[in-house]
Amino acid sequence: MSLLIKNGKIYQNGALARKNIFIKNHKIDKITSQDLKAEKTIDAKNKIVIPGLIDSHVHFREPGATHKEDFLTGSMAAAAGGITTVLDMPNTNPATTNLQRLEEKRRLAKKSIVNYGFHFGSTNDNMPEIEKAKNVASVKVYMDFTTGDLKLDKLDVLKKIFTSNKTISVHGENENILEAIELIQHAHNHLYLCHVSSKEELHYAKRHKIKNARTKSGTNSVGRVFVETCPHYLFLTAKDINKLGSFAEMKPGLKTKQDQKALWQGLYNGRIDTIATDHAPHTKEEKMQENYPYGVPGCETMLPLLLNAMNEKKITLKKIVQLCCENPAEIFRIKNKGRIKEGYDADLAIIDLNLEKEVKNDELLTKCKWSPFDGWKLKGWPAMTIVNGNIVFDNGKVNNIKAKEVAYDE
Ligand code: DOR
Ligand code: ZN
Ligand code: ZN
Repeated sequence: MSLLIKNGKIYQNGALARKNIFIKNHKIDKITSQDLKAEKTIDAKNKIVIPGLIDSHVHFREPGATHKEDFLTGSMAAAAGGITTVLDMPNTNPATTNLQRLEEKRRLAKKSIVNYGFHFGSTNDNMPEIEKAKNVASVKVYMDFTTGDLKLDKLDVLKKIFTSNKTISVHGENENILEAIELIQHAHNHLYLCHVSSKEELHYAKRHKIKNARTKSGTNSVGRVFVETCPHYLFLTAKDINKLGSFAEMKPGLKTKQDQKALWQGLYNGRIDTIATDHAPHTKEEKMQENYPYGVPGCETMLPLLLNAMNEKKITLKKIVQLCCENPAEIFRIKNKGRIKEGYDADLAIIDLNLEKEVKNDELLTKCKWSPFDGWKLKGWPAMTIVNGNIVFDNGKVNNIKAKEVAYDE
């Protein structure tokens, strides 16, 4: 199948250019001013084409909690949000902590209509499995409590895992972040700090980044530290819990206006490397129980929130693409993704910066059917999402075309 996207402005190398994209065999074949003949043509007039977003942090709940989400519904939500690749977390039931369970998850994920990869879980005694696990984005280490029971606290175990030859993703809060940074200094691999939510945590990571910059030229390359934050920390604060109750409770929790300000500054000054959703759906009924679980869905709203912020001159398109496309691809070394480039996979989001629409719970595609942003009027939405050259989302309509597992560079 060949596809031509024409009349749009495409985002390439930090700038917008009026070019056509010719897609063949699931890849970006040519970026050209010519009007090539294709089996199908998409008119992207008045729209912008950006690389599809790579969401490096989702919980699609398979296996074990498919009443909350599954790979089909989660990926539909992702597609509706301009996300073309997701990296799924291991705190499923059972958790993804051995090779057999990883293979089982691979089988379940075949339902996904966006591309996918997996973070591998860690336990007190699965080091041999971690070493054998092939084609995973990272090893996830839970250094604090959250959904699932993967929390690790034995220092000798942590030390071993942190020196495995894989990137380490950490769920931590406050002082766990310091501990993780301390542990990675003795290793040669990288540390990815999930969902950094406060000024203080950002400060810890910043200190290490400065140290990193100083040792960069040295021969003993230390592990680098990367920082992720999430849309809920950028657009909500603890005050929103007054109105939303448990529907605004996640781990780590929402912080103050001051923390939020520090995060926005972190986006501008490069101290934050990625924005990911931490899409963590739970049913409305579960959220209304006394002992409610933590987490909020986010795949459908991340890009509209950011485009709306762009319309309000709070962020540039360049930053959005860096944080949501280029950097995740580079940090996790995902092959052929994150940029609009000849030879790269045809994973694209066509966005309409002028489209104004309200987030509505009952229109969401996530199985949980709610969002902490319900009722928000946002200007700037994905109009079409293309995965491996297939149109999986087209102005509200989903096409159930299966996607693929990603591969990583060595
Ligand atoms: O709020 C959260 N929910 N934080 C996490 O780290 C896990 C997630 C979940 O899986 O529900
Ligand atoms: Zn977490
Ligand atoms: Zn998470």
